[in-house]
Amino acid sequence: VTEAAANIGVVGLAVMGANLSRNLASREGNTVAVFNRSPQRTEALVAAHPEAGFVPAFSYAEFAASLQKPRTAIIMVQAGAATDATIDALVEVFEPGDIIVDGGNAYFPDTIRRERAVRATGINFVGAGISGGEEGALNGPSIMPGGSDEAWRTLGPILRSIAAVAEGEPCVTHVGHDGAGHFVKMVHNGIEYADMQLIAEAYDLIRRGTGKSPAEIADIFAEWNRGELESYLIEITAEVLRQNDAATGEPLVDVILDQAGAKGTGAWTVQTALALGVPVSGIAEATFARSLSSHPEQRAAAAELPGPARAIAVDDEAAFIEDVRQALYASKIVAYSQGFDEIRAGAAEYGWTIDLGAIARIWRAGCIIRAQFLNRIADAYAADADLALLMGAPYFADALARGQEAWRRVVVHATAAGIPAPAFSSSLAYYDGLRAERLPAALVQGQRDFFGAHTYRRIDREGAFHTLWSGDR
Ligand code: NAP
Ligand code: ATR
Repeated sequence: VTEAAANIGVVGLAVMGANLSRNLASREGNTVAVFNRSPQRTEALVAAHPEAGFVPAFSYAEFAASLQKPRTAIIMVQAGAATDATIDALVEVFEPGDIIVDGGNAYFPDTIRRERAVRATGINFVGAGISGGEEGALNGPSIMPGGSDEAWRTLGPILRSIAAVAEGEPCVTHVGHDGAGHFVKMVHNGIEYADMQLIAEAYDLIRRGTGKSPAEIADIFAEWNRGELESYLIEITAEVLRQNDAATGEPLVDVILDQAGAKGTGAWTVQTALALGVPVSGIAEATFARSLSSHPEQRAAAAELPGPARAIAVDDEAAFIEDVRQALYASKIVAYSQGFDEIRAGAAEYGWTIDLGAIARIWRAGCIIRAQFLNRIADAYAADADLALLMGAPYFADALARGQEAWRRVVVHATAAGIPAPAFSSSLAYYDGLRAERLPAALVQGQRDFFGAHTYRRIDREGAFHTLWSGDR
């Protein structure tokens, strides 16, 4: 390369990087430099897409030379050590003022660490959560960038041009400094776990409660997708349930092994919430439900443990299905409320200024949890940006009030029938816990004071108190 030809570069040309490069190249005014550790991938991408006008590079030096200054490069390599190696190589060939963006699924503490280290060289480092998988990368993802305000000024227009669009607005916002973007992407995935588990529980309850076939339940989900539950996850659930297995002719869902995997972002969300002291019980139960499913040896050991003597069918199918729909909606409100609570707490802990309404808006398209519902969340934060509890906002409080009896009936049915509904029931327990006038936490404090002299506070006087319990040693 004799002159700097490209205004943006991508490093890492596997599924995500290749699609993001094509998305960038398709936008007016962009020329995209591409680099991959193994040269074959670069050659294959450039050969397959002559229309993109890619500027291929086969060394980091060549890649840097092909970029106009200030240079901007997006890294799309495996999270972890590969990302560190790539950042180190770019820092060697970049200059102060240049911008390195990590678009991979980094763990936010890594992003905080990397941002600090790269900033010391004068180069900008931006950790950006990119959601939407392969299709999103190509046609428009939801993008959650952190990093400095300076980097955002250059990066903003580029990211806006490739992001998904919801109601005319690009699904990208400067989330906050350093690791804020990857933090929010992590919580997005945690909420995704909860949403998926709740949908799975709804399916299981309907199937075992009414004996309907997966294809019949697909019709129910398709119907639900026309109402307040309208979302990508409900839409694809209907398609998954309608699919028959080519080999056996059985519903595909009956042929798929019932063990759910996980790449770890749900666990990060829960670990971080535990450290922050935020009760994300719905997200945690969803994560644990995947773990529970994936222990066949324990499931075999428990298989003979007793349950209800016979299947419990519901009396009024239509009413039951409507109850399940309402329970799903109520539990979903809880899951999102918990996720936003975690973002609020994370922002306070790490010193980020995060506009929660803007987060809801950039999730409306491009990402896995895209849904109509996110407009209601944006409305709630527009009415009160400092909302202490999302589910306490009038719209959600009303929805919970309308749904709570159905929710309770569903949890009672699940319990009586021996159908596990951990996300439904833990969400309900969270709802009842928060609204309780008095909690048995008073007794826990008494126990703590008894065995550990941890003291307690009183309802009627200021100060810390310790009782000389008769059992004191
Ligand atoms: P991936 O399988 O996670 O990573 C493969 C890429 O990383 C290849 O370009 C590979 O280069 C490169 N790489 C691996 N080790 C390297 C090293 N030590 N040094 C330099 N490069 C190295 O690819 P992906 O699925 O496209 O995902 C890219 C990133 O996006 C990941 O962080 C992923 O978590 C994130 N993400 C993925 C999705 C998704 O739906 N798949 C969605 C959102 C975000 P070689 O060709 O030389 O091996
Ligand atoms: P998105 O932002 O689009 O949600 P993601 O966070 O990478 O992208 O993951 C989306 C879904 O693809 C998740 O279900 C994720 O698995 P986990 O539920 O275990 O987190 C899945 N996924 C992502 N990368 C994957 C990979 N390399 N192999 C298998 N599944 C993957």
